[in-house]
Amino acid sequence: MGQHDFSGQSAVVTGSSRGIGAAIAVELARCGARLTLTGRDAEALAGIAAEVEKESGSRPAVVVCDLREGPAAAQVVDATLKAHGRLDMLVNNAGATKRGDFLTLTDEDFNDGFALKFHGAVRMTRAAWPHLVKSKGKLVNIVGIGSLTPAMDFTIGGPVNSALINFTKAIADRGLKDGVRVNAVNPGHIVTDRLRRRVEALAKAEGISYAEAEDRSRHEHGILRFGSSEEIAHLVAFLCSDRATYVHGSTIEIDGGATKGL
Ligand SMILES: NC(=O)c1ccc[n+]([C@@H]2O[C@H](COP(=O)([O-])OP(=O)(O)OC[C@H]3O[C@@H](n4cnc5c(N)ncnc54)[C@H](OP(=O)(O)O)[C@@H]3O)[C@@H](O)[C@H]2O)c1
Repeated sequence: MGQHDFSGQSAVVTGSSRGIGAAIAVELARCGARLTLTGRDAEALAGIAAEVEKESGSRPAVVVCDLREGPAAAQVVDATLKAHGRLDMLVNNAGATKRGDFLTLTDEDFNDGFALKFHGAVRMTRAAWPHLVKSKGKLVNIVGIGSLTPAMDFTIGGPVNSALINFTKAIADRGLKDGVRVNAVNPGHIVTDRLRRRVEALAKAEGISYAEAEDRSRHEHGILRFGSSEEIAHLVAFLCSDRATYVHGSTIEIDGGATKGL
């Protein structure tokens, strides 16, 4: 059993085939929640589903879908209601925005970044909302510190994240009226496949070892270490729990001190 008790509740975690989303799904399952997992990689989802089932003793619903596509959100909610009969927690986590030199990024790259992380989250929220209202549920959006600190190699991810924070605040206000608690989490530099690929690319570009690239990257970001997906998962579980009933409309940085501004 985890630190909170979500028995009898059900949770959707988007982008739960790996990385931060997988860790959140496993942590919520450890706390007794029944899960719905989503992603495009059926094999990876099957692996996380087995872990989730081991933790909670209940088989998760698994929806293999591309959240950039219109009907996917409703499919995820339908599958959740069919499997678990209710929806108490939605964690919008799926996201993948292209980094790089602004002058090399195309309209397609920008549209793609918004299509998944912004429009996907908006559609999931719309589809889940009536059920969250019914359960007096919780919504947590996983965003990113790029929402606060722009960077020249993150001209898609930064604006997408800022838009999602704005949306979170707006929907949190509606949540006051409808009885749904809404918050956002801003992870910093968290060790996942995405971060490993970034460190590898730096090592290759600079002709240095992976360890050296990791050190340089930590130094550049002004942090002592990278974070883990489990650390994000613990914060999300707290935000969904009754320990956090007065946390509403907040954006919480969990970044090891990377965000230096106010
Ligand atoms: N890692 C970090 O340092 C960091 C920092 C700040 C914010 N974040 C945010 O945290 C979230 C998770 O990041 P992560 O590092 O865990 O990423 P990740 O390891 O790349 O995982 C991304 C997840 O999103 C899913 N996904 C990607 N494209 C999708 C699509 N078109 N439709 C449905 N699902 C899709 C992936 O599943 P499939 O591949 O199976 O589709 C995967 O489960 C993202 O929103 C990211 O922006 C991460």
